[in-house]
Amino acid sequence: MPLSDKKVIVTGGPTYEFLDPVRFISNRSSGKMGKALADESFKRAREIVFIHGPMHKSLLAGIEYRTVAVESTREMLDAVLVELTPDSVLIMAAAPADYRPAEKSLTKIKKKEDELIVRFVKNPDILKTVAEIRSTQFPLRNIFLVGFAAETNDIENYAKNKMREKDLDIICVNDVGKPDAGFGVDTNIVTIFTRWGDRYELPLLSKQEVASRILDCVEKGIECKGEKFLP
Ligand code: PMT
Repeated sequence: MPLSDKKVIVTGGPTYEFLDPVRFISNRSSGKMGKALADESFKRAREIVFIHGPMHKSLLAGIEYRTVAVESTREMLDAVLVELTPDSVLIMAAAPADYRPAEKSLTKIKKKEDELIVRFVKNPDILKTVAEIRSTQFPLRNIFLVGFAAETNDIENYAKNKMREKDLDIICVNDVGKPDAGFGVDTNIVTIFTRWGDRYELPLLSKQEVASRILDCVEKGIECKGEKFLP
């Protein structure tokens, strides 16, 4: 099995971007999709690490593999870079915040004016950063990259653009327009697109089953990567 000699790095959950010591911006990711992928990788891979944003404690109970807890997108990037090895598969199921407040107040912001205007600055893109490292650092050229996208319409176009833009081997698109798919729930509806031209439209499945199908694709991709699509 191609994953049995690989290290799999899975990210999951949201990130928090703080405005002051008690307030932050975030999103509705629960970390369930990432956790399902980490559980499934634990069964198949040589090594697994789950790097996660803030998640409910009950979801992390009893885990038998290594986990790294982070809060912000920049912390998630740093954690991913620390874990990268030449044989890594990086699966980015996390929903890292694209922007953060330009300044974080050291003390709680007090209610004064009728309006509070916050300026945001862009966070680093974790997948793009790793893709760049892969293309410029020869020993890391075999890193395998899997991204996610949350879309409601025109799935194929958005997916293919994102796959090109982030130089991914596989992109998994959640149909978040449907009630049982995407954020927070235990099920998902995913279409998988691969760099080598495959497309798998999965029905409504548990996140565990979706994770298993994604890892089947990763294993197939690793098997033929050497021959067909080495960057
Ligand atoms: O956690 P759950 O409640 O189970 O929900 C699962 C999920 C819907 C969050 C998950 O399946 C999912 O779709 N995760 C990606 C959501 C997202 O951030 O999409 P995006 O279009 O903003 O980003 C595209 C890809 O780039 C993603 O793989 C993301 O992890 C990655 N990214 C995003 C921002 C950033 N700064 N760096 C990144 O690498």
